[in-house]
Amino acid sequence: MNGPILYCGDPHGKFSHIIDAANELNASAVIILGDLEPKRPLHIELEAIRERVWFIHGNHDTDTEANWTHIWESELAERNIDGRVVILPDGTRVAGLGGVFRESVWYPSIPIEPKFRNRQEHSEFTPQQDRWRDLVHRRHWSTIYPDEFENLNKLKADVLVTHEAPGYHNHGFQILNALASSMGAKIGVHGHQHDQLDSSDRWLEQGFNSYGVGLRGITAIDAQGKATVIVPGELDEERDHRQRYADVFKDLES
Ligand SMILES: [Fe+2]
Repeated sequence: MNGPILYCGDPHGKFSHIIDAANELNASAVIILGDLEPKRPLHIELEAIRERVWFIHGNHDTDTEANWTHIWESELAERNIDGRVVILPDGTRVAGLGGVFRESVWYPSIPIEPKFRNRQEHSEFTPQQDRWRDLVHRRHWSTIYPDEFENLNKLKADVLVTHEAPGYHNHGFQILNALASSMGAKIGVHGHQHDQLDSSDRWLEQGFNSYGVGLRGITAIDAQGKATVIVPGELDEERDHRQRYADVFKDLES
């Protein structure tokens, strides 16, 4: 298994293309960027490649009891790299930040204090009947909390994978640029937006190569940060207009 590292955009319940690509290319690792929504427990969906799989969760992974259970109670639950750094077989250090920012907890684009630092604190303000597994509401299992962010911020990594997009994206967050920078990450890969915009004119300024991977898309990225699209995202073409918006947006900024 000395093939490429594959970064897989939001599968939303479909995994066969990931298994096929991993086997055909002899992938050394497969990293899924959130919104998995497995219809069966994740270790069953990904049985054929389970030894090579890592993932972060997305916002939709807490939409239903089934989604939550198929991930957090799966035998692959320990492969969730949210809030930590793992070392892949080729030595690449990959950090993960799953979930999304939510205003009811913390929304870094708005300059107000976070309402809760972590899930434990939030749960103390959550009525018993609204708690999931005696913690916060199930929805907030996929919310990003400041303590988790700050813990990650103290670690070092080569690659940072997030569900949310970093600042280059119109719907992204500058604070993820700061995170990549302080972790020393030279590559940032995200899902969630279902597009794959070219942000290369930002790389020098932001200090890392940023890549989006589209809906059910797959991109291989090497240690130097060079990307090869293996499977285009299902909406990449349809969302191509976002590239023009991104370019206009950048012109307005400068
Ligand atoms: Fe998402």
